[in-house]
Amino acid sequence: MNKGIAIYPGSFDPPTNGHLDLIQRGSKIFEELVVAILRNSEKSPMFSVAERLAMLRELTADLKNVRIDTFNGLMVEYAKSIDAVCILRGIRAISDYEYELQMALMNRKLEPTLETVFMMPADKYSYVSSRLVREVAQAGGPVKGLVPEVVEQKLQEKLDPAYKLQDMHIVEVPLSAKKSDKKRKRKT
Ligand code: PNS
Repeated sequence: MNKGIAIYPGSFDPPTNGHLDLIQRGSKIFEELVVAILRNSEKSPMFSVAERLAMLRELTADLKNVRIDTFNGLMVEYAKSIDAVCILRGIRAISDYEYELQMALMNRKLEPTLETVFMMPADKYSYVSSRLVREVAQAGGPVKGLVPEVVEQKLQEKLDPAYKLQDMHIVEVPLSAKKSDKKRKRKT
């Protein structure tokens, strides 16, 4: 087997324990694993690319053959530019398969020399996704064990209730002010 460079692309918004599990597994198989964060995603992310880059760098600091980078545009073009021979993607459940198969076949059409390799994260992470982590955290639920501690901290900082209260206050004040303004205006 050619153990060249592999690319593990994704949004990583935020990185989860499932992502980290896959990175660790991938790093044992490939000579070098480049975790590549998509920069031009259409989704409005919770964490900036710089924040995701910093989190992933910290989380993989002990894995010497893992590098974190970002990319724009077509993933296969970026993969070629770094001489990657393989795309690594994680499959948690059958429900992932359809989308992943479609993407793998499209990527093969775009660049036939690049192979996609699917790996399964540990079964304890089979239900963990960035989207659900964001949803649970935004609703004030616990995400312990689903994301690394550093990510848990960053989520807490981002969703600090003090900030939420401040926001509510800012919204409430102008609304009530507007009502009394209107009353005053009608009287005059
Ligand atoms: O973690 P995600 O959001 O499922 O990752 C999806 C990602 C970033 C791998 C995919 O959307 C992608 O590669 N986007 C870059 C644009 C591209 O190459 N599109 C064609 C893919 S078939």
